Amino acid sequence: VGDKLPSVDLYEGTPNDKVNISSFTEKTIIFGVPGAFTPGCSKTHAPGFIANFDTLKAKGVKHIVCVSVNDPFVMAAWCENLKGEGKVRFLADIHTEFTKAIGLELDATPFLGNVRSKRYCMLVEDGTVKVLSVEPDGTGLSCSKADDFLKLI
Ligand code: BEZ
Repeated sequence: VGDKLPSVDLYEGTPNDKVNISSFTEKTIIFGVPGAFTPGCSKTHAPGFIANFDTLKAKGVKHIVCVSVNDPFVMAAWCENLKGEGKVRFLADIHTEFTKAIGLELDATPFLGNVRSKRYCMLVEDGTVKVLSVEPDGTGLSCSKADDFLKLI
């Protein structure tokens, strides 16, 4: 909390479509997940932000961004599967660069095959992190769900 977002390119839809995370200068929610289509991320975490789109908008949130260490095609398919288009931007951290820059990498080698992201949620205003909830065990759903995070902002 208090840090500026790093200038790192993420990818939306294809490896040719860069989105620099530092371009989100308006009030933005960024939530990170261990993996697209994994049960907790797909049944609970991401759907919670899609379902709360109107509530978050009413609180002045302009962008909701989901980040995962996956490829952009998988992230696009996940967005389509969850009907998240127009509500949540699904951005791929192809090189794990953003996740490492914010110190939230998760060694998921034993269960997902590589380094992924811890589960977290942050509120960013003027490019600066204002509120941050990181799951203590990296993968649980104790404090980073939309319903829980809404109480903090
Ligand atoms: C999940 O259900 O979200 C999950 C499953 C395996 C590893 C990490 C997360």
